Amino acid sequence: MTKLSVNINKIATIRNARGNNLPDLVQVAKDCEKFGAQGITVHPRPDERHITYQDVYDLKPVVSTEFNIEGFPNISFINLVLEVKPHQVTLVPDPPGVLTSNAGWDTLKQKDFLKEVISEFKSAGIRTSIFVDTKIVNIENAIETGTDRIELYTGPYADNFNSNKEDAITSFVKAANLANELNLGINAGHDLNLDNLNYFKNNINGLLEVSIGHALICDSLYHGLENTIKKYLDCLK
Ligand code: PXP
Repeated sequence: MTKLSVNINKIATIRNARGNNLPDLVQVAKDCEKFGAQGITVHPRPDERHITYQDVYDLKPVVSTEFNIEGFPNISFINLVLEVKPHQVTLVPDPPGVLTSNAGWDTLKQKDFLKEVISEFKSAGIRTSIFVDTKIVNIENAIETGTDRIELYTGPYADNFNSNKEDAITSFVKAANLANELNLGINAGHDLNLDNLNYFKNNINGLLEVSIGHALICDSLYHGLENTIKKYLDCLK
């Protein structure tokens, strides 16, 4: 079974546009779960331009499914995660100021750094995942960081899906097969949507979880949040 974790960053972006509590992020998280989402993902960035650190504390007692916090492991992020103790932390190599995460870790070059951070999270009982592209060298070295899972960066898959979906999925199938051989759990995310999700799910063995934000929130403008979540869940059946 592949879990759907809804990334609610965009809800915080809309709220922050007016400086009040509309929409109410905590209520949206509860509603996503009520409508069938099996996880909630947040990505607090250093400038807190969407999810704030306070949001993360507010969500912790409310999220009853899987709570996934993703972000770059600087010292304040590490302390936040260790204090909040989510089910999963996803480490992303995004420098401050970047619009959205647009690359995975170089797991060879960053191996020592990742090892250190991952062991700290694992000692605290938090499952770890690291955001990676499909380069074989990055998957091979991911296992040596000690991470429990990888999250495949699906941006390039989404970019190429409409022109040639068989080509678009090829490197992901190879990366996933290797991850399965190495006993690394597989998550995936970025630019997944109602068009490309089902094909991805059907071709990737052992896909444990997808985290989806932008397209899902956009779709919910037209279909409503409840229907939209059901449509995404249908793609994962
Ligand atoms: N995974 C990671 C690591 C991300 O940074 C993001 C975007 O915050 C997502 C998944 C979700 O991507 P999207 O908003 O395109 O669905």
